[in-house]
Amino acid sequence: MKVLILTEKPFAPAAVAGIREILEGAGHEVATLEKYTERAQALEAVKDANALIIRSDKVDAEVMAAAPELKIVVRAGAGYDNVDLAAATERGIVVMNTPGQNANAVAELVFGMLVFGVRQFFTGKAGSELLGKRLGILAFGNVGRNVARIAKGFGMDVWAYDAYCPAEAIEAAGVHAAASQAELFAECDVISLHIPATAETKGSINGALCGTMKKGAILVNTARKEVIDEASLLALMQERTDLRYLTDIKPDADADFAAKCEGRYFATPKKMGAQTAEANVNAGLAAARQICGYFADGCTKFQVNK
Ligand code: 3PG
Repeated sequence: MKVLILTEKPFAPAAVAGIREILEGAGHEVATLEKYTERAQALEAVKDANALIIRSDKVDAEVMAAAPELKIVVRAGAGYDNVDLAAATERGIVVMNTPGQNANAVAELVFGMLVFGVRQFFTGKAGSELLGKRLGILAFGNVGRNVARIAKGFGMDVWAYDAYCPAEAIEAAGVHAAASQAELFAECDVISLHIPATAETKGSINGALCGTMKKGAILVNTARKEVIDEASLLALMQERTDLRYLTDIKPDADADFAAKCEGRYFATPKKMGAQTAEANVNAGLAAARQICGYFADGCTKFQVNK
């Protein structure tokens, strides 16, 4: 089978080498299209692919239509909001993710951004410390759990809320379960977002919710751009000049945030939470193994469009 690694944001070379080794060892052919700049390049590259390994690359009905031989798409990562699941299901294409494989990388970046933020973006001004501060983790999945583990090392008071995870499971991880999302936002010094972008969550982190945050609170977003209601958050941050926003996903209104919230806003130039060699290897090799398993035995363990 022909497997195309379609990555606008490329994997580390070690990950590509490992993916090749696994797939070629199982008799598959591997092609790559990395750092592409035009959608047309992707449409051309997928035309004879039987399988795709992607990251945040958009795989919609048009891409699938350009790939008549496509049988499986594996998103090497957690969030699969970039894949049109309904279109895939209609075509009988299996879509999988590789849950947990890049979670530690994202969690570590949360603290990289937080330390940078509380230390006044390394300008030399006196900042503050994380020790003793209360961290609220919104969604207690693989990334949220890693964030909790690292936060304990900083001596933070760790809280979490997850609409789909029972409070007992959160408490079992040694984390205080907030009663609601509202309580989490109102009671914590730092909120770290780990929710996927779904119909339910898009735009849910808005000015009204963030307006309940404590004085001097910090919002950290390593999840998705779409979960933020940018207009109302921006308006709130102009009113509440004590709030800070640190994000790994540049908002559409990046220039406005940067101009109007100077010294309280930071966005990475490109989403880099999962951009470590380790995460690339973990997620990339898992994707390769899942493709081998699917073609060899029909294994659909990580299928997300069942
Ligand atoms: C994910 O959903 O796994 C992360 O957001 C990482 O995305 P990336 O592979 O595009 O860096």
